[in-house]
Amino acid sequence: MKLKNLLRVAGFMIVLGNTTLFADSGAELFESKCAMCHVTKPPKDMSTLVAPPVFGVIRHVKMTYSNEAEALAFMRSYVMEPSAAKAVCMPQKLKKFGVMPSQKGNVTPQELEVITKWMYDNFPPKGFKGKKHKMF
Ligand code: HEC
Repeated sequence: MKLKNLLRVAGFMIVLGNTTLFADSGAELFESKCAMCHVTKPPKDMSTLVAPPVFGVIRHVKMTYSNEAEALAFMRSYVMEPSAAKAVCMPQKLKKFGVMPSQKGNVTPQELEVITKWMYDNFPPKGFKGKKHKMF
């Protein structure tokens, strides 16, 4: 790898303050396909959000589907064919952000498999206190 690229990657990791975030391709795929809408850390200014942060999304998916296989199947189906009727997030989120646009064409089913597994395994992060983050 060229030094310039290496420095850029190192820079990203420092900015995120979490080197494990980029340790596997699930994190990289999420970053390039989903993170423009679903942030991984709460921003200072909540009004900049265009979608629920990923920890809120997964929290609600896990509250609805206690079984991992069902949770993953739900996410994969939702991302390709979202609808208000299918959504498990809070109704006020749907009202605020609108229904997610289908990611068909942005993500392949194979990529989505890696991404959703990574999301499920890493969120919400350990020690996450949902009550402190009522807005999600
Ligand atoms: C253009 C912005 C945008 C992109 C890109 C995007 N999402 Fe979303 N997503 C949203 C919004 C807005 C919501 C909340 C409304 C809803 O649930 O439809 C949402 C909700 C979700 C939900 C919760 C569904 C529910 O039950 O309500 C999941 C799971 C999800 N997104 C996964 C993903 C994944 C995985 C990717 C990347 C492949 C992705 N999203 C990319 C905007 C986006």
